[in-house]
Amino acid sequence: MDNGSAGQAEEGGAWAGPAGAEAFAAVEAATDWLLGYPFVFEALSRRLGADELLVDYGCGPGRVADRAARVLGARVVGVDTSAEMLAIARSTATAVAEFHLVRDGRVTGLPDECADAVMCNHVPASLPTEEALLGVFAEIRRLLRPGAPFVLLTTDPDCTELEYTSLRVGAPGVSYRLGEEMPLRLLRTDGSWQEVRNHAWPVDRLPILLESARFREVSQRRPTVDEASALADPALVGRHPWTAERAAPPLVITSALAS
Ligand SMILES: C[S@@+](CC[C@H](N)C(=O)[O-])C[C@H]1O[C@@H](n2cnc3c(N)ncnc32)[C@H](O)[C@@H]1O
Repeated sequence: MDNGSAGQAEEGGAWAGPAGAEAFAAVEAATDWLLGYPFVFEALSRRLGADELLVDYGCGPGRVADRAARVLGARVVGVDTSAEMLAIARSTATAVAEFHLVRDGRVTGLPDECADAVMCNHVPASLPTEEALLGVFAEIRRLLRPGAPFVLLTTDPDCTELEYTSLRVGAPGVSYRLGEEMPLRLLRTDGSWQEVRNHAWPVDRLPILLESARFREVSQRRPTVDEASALADPALVGRHPWTAERAAPPLVITSALAS
């Protein structure tokens, strides 16, 4: 197994810099495409009209933003702290309308209350403190018009025991405290594994933080393989046995409305 780690030091956490962007762009994310992203899109589709503005906060290389634009028919804007991620996204995510850099915690070029919805997938894991996470939630709240939906996808740091199809969370038997550094291994498209040091965000803490950041009607769900059979790409559903995903689904979707 290749345990090469992406760089950590700069703003943006584990995936910062050119090496981080290249590393994340090579990740396969089968478990996320089964139990995560389709459910994010489903939650958004209930409240987002065609041609309305959806911001993908921490869009990375833009794959998910691109799929969202195609599935939802929304006008999708990707934002990220990493200029390198945005460069990859600009060249590959052709259905995305615009990309903006996040600088000093603020999205450049997007006014207050411009967004009809925001999704944020796997960004908290890059953030080491509650203060940093609250800063991200405050910026997302600034972008959203009142009443608009926010959908957040995270990995449960308690799912350390099982070998997921494209994911290994932490070390078996270890319990991680809020914000604590935690290793994560992700399957790459070439079959090797990428290790990064992420931060643990216990899922039951997220609603409390969202409410303190002026969100309301916070709810959470943990999608199952049975539910995914009706929602995810049928070719993907049939490709793997999903043994660990059936035993303990590792992804949690937290939804809220801007107050
Ligand atoms: C694990 S990647 C996820 C990318 C994409 N959301 C996905 O699910 O494929 C995390 C992304 O969040 C970005 N990021 C980290 N901290 C951020 C912050 N404070 N504001 C915006 N983006 C951030 C990183 O640069 C990286 O592109």
